[in-house]
Amino acid sequence: MSSFPSWTPQLTDDGSFTFFSEEFGETFHSRYGARQEAFQKFAQATDLKQRSQQKSVKLLDVCYGLGYNTAAALETLWVENPGCFVEIVGLELDATIPRAAIAPDLLKGWSNPVQDALRSIATTHRYTTPRLDATLLMGDARQTIQHLCHSGFQADAIFLDPFSPRRCPQLWTVEFFRFISRCLAPMGKLTTYSRSASVRSALLEVGLCIGTIPLGEVHLPHEWSQGTVAAFHSELLHPLSQMEQEHLRTRAAVPYRDPTLCDPPQLILERHQKEQNHSCLESTSSWRRRWGVR
Ligand SMILES: C[S@@+](CC[C@H](N)C(=O)[O-])C[C@H]1O[C@@H](n2cnc3c(N)ncnc32)[C@H](O)[C@@H]1O
Repeated sequence: MSSFPSWTPQLTDDGSFTFFSEEFGETFHSRYGARQEAFQKFAQATDLKQRSQQKSVKLLDVCYGLGYNTAAALETLWVENPGCFVEIVGLELDATIPRAAIAPDLLKGWSNPVQDALRSIATTHRYTTPRLDATLLMGDARQTIQHLCHSGFQADAIFLDPFSPRRCPQLWTVEFFRFISRCLAPMGKLTTYSRSASVRSALLEVGLCIGTIPLGEVHLPHEWSQGTVAAFHSELLHPLSQMEQEHLRTRAAVPYRDPTLCDPPQLILERHQKEQNHSCLESTSSWRRRWGVR
């Protein structure tokens, strides 16, 4: 039997597919719609429609996975301005994932130029055409981000899409975000689906301002945000609600730390737990009771 992981597509509510990771115990996307998530929480949240009017746009796709965030970004930019030159750098640990994602059934929702890009990125980790320069840097993003940062890369939009902080704490730490923030252009935006207070406080600690991704019209009763957007200028952002601001003053806001950027996840979780236990901040359960959050 092969030790190669097999990626079985799972249907999400908008008709697009995602994968489930046995290793991390999570699906790669929201079950409400993988494709919809890529457009709403990544392409729209970083204003790509407006940015398409620039001569060129630079994107950093942290945790490339099936490449949906890259694909939604390209679709958004090129529908508005087919001549927009796009430079994309993706970071990914597992080459089997982008490869499994170019099966015809998974590609069929994307336009032909975007399908060509996804195929080439998945197989050769490179794609260059007169309007696209894409590179997939393979390896632990904690290391590849350092090389990218030293190269002086400055992204207009950064997509931050690791598995959740409890499952993959190494990609939500203050130290990792410090390198990420150095790859963000002065007027750029970073977006993530996470609305976790620990993630938000780590973004603040590295000098970014944070805002919320407001809820869409349809949402579950316990939801209060679709994620977080960060930038160097607060006026570019949707302000946090009072409830979200108070969340940042609870123990849930203790950030994850990884001083040497190579600690195993378990150690990062234990360090985080210890810091929470010693924290004088309000307990998160009393914040939950006050705001009626499940
Ligand atoms: C939630 S999925 C990303 C989904 C992706 N953005 C998409 O649209 O399909 C998380 C991804 O992070 C990758 N990953 C996990 N640990 C990593 C690490 N240390 N460095 C880089 N990538 C990592 C996984 O292989 C997986 O593809």
